[in-house]
Amino acid sequence: TQVTDATPIKTLPDAQTVTEVQHYTDRLFRFRVTRPASLRFRSGEFVMIGLMGDPDPKTGKQKPLLRAYSIASPSWDEELEFYSIKVQDGPLTSKLQHIKPGDQLILRPKPVGTLVHDALLPGKRLWFFATGTGIAPFASLIRDPQTYSDYDQVILTHTCRDVAELTYGRELVESLKSDEMLGELLEGGQDKLVYYPTTTRERSPKMGRITTRLEDGTVFRDLGIDGITPGTDRAMVCGSMGLNTDLKRILEGFGLREGANSEPAEYVVEKAFVG
Ligand code: A2P
Repeated sequence: TQVTDATPIKTLPDAQTVTEVQHYTDRLFRFRVTRPASLRFRSGEFVMIGLMGDPDPKTGKQKPLLRAYSIASPSWDEELEFYSIKVQDGPLTSKLQHIKPGDQLILRPKPVGTLVHDALLPGKRLWFFATGTGIAPFASLIRDPQTYSDYDQVILTHTCRDVAELTYGRELVESLKSDEMLGELLEGGQDKLVYYPTTTRERSPKMGRITTRLEDGTVFRDLGIDGITPGTDRAMVCGSMGLNTDLKRILEGFGLREGANSEPAEYVVEKAFVG
């Protein structure tokens, strides 16, 4: 018998279909794709995604152009979400920024990463420190019920150049309050999830780099917290090299030690990849 199948033939290796695209600024966008049925991941992990590159001028052969992207959606979501920078001359993002629903992209279904609950020892308060697109893994983690069952309080800090670049995170945090499952977890207790946005190049209620505000104690005064201590506080950091280096120094200064999947401790760091 002849098989007639209405689904489009997947021409790319590990192809997934784009379901939604939303542009925030000329530098930032978010997109959702279908999720491979077999893909299991831990909130905070990343996968390699990409597109076929241009044909080689000599051989005519095309090779996949792949980059590491944190999965921004929670593990219970039936689709996968990603949050990306657009770099006009970036090998991948110059093309990726033009994707539309129905297009296909390549997704290698091998999630890995250190921004996972397993890499931290139990604690009371969990800090997520992000700059720019470094918020992506935390977009997954703040939608994971385990985050709220493991900790009394979760603080998400996000530093961006201007107010428009905060939109993705702000809208996400706002949407959680009315979420059927997470809304309940966020109620009770005061401020279970605290959102602390700062900008560095445009006026906003909280100006300056998060690193500066930690070092001069502004963050703690704003939040009514004594400080960060290894007995109660855990942290995950995701941003530029500069942010990661500076925050490592600051957190170690507070007595926190860097953890890993194989040896959990008090904080973990990962570079925000595409940029
Ligand atoms: P700044 O404007 O002072 O450079 P980008 O969009 O370039 O990735 O930067 C995202 C945000 O991260 C910007 O607000 C930027 O501030 C901030 N940033 C850059 N380097 C550091 C660092 N070493 N520590 C803290 N924040 C940083």
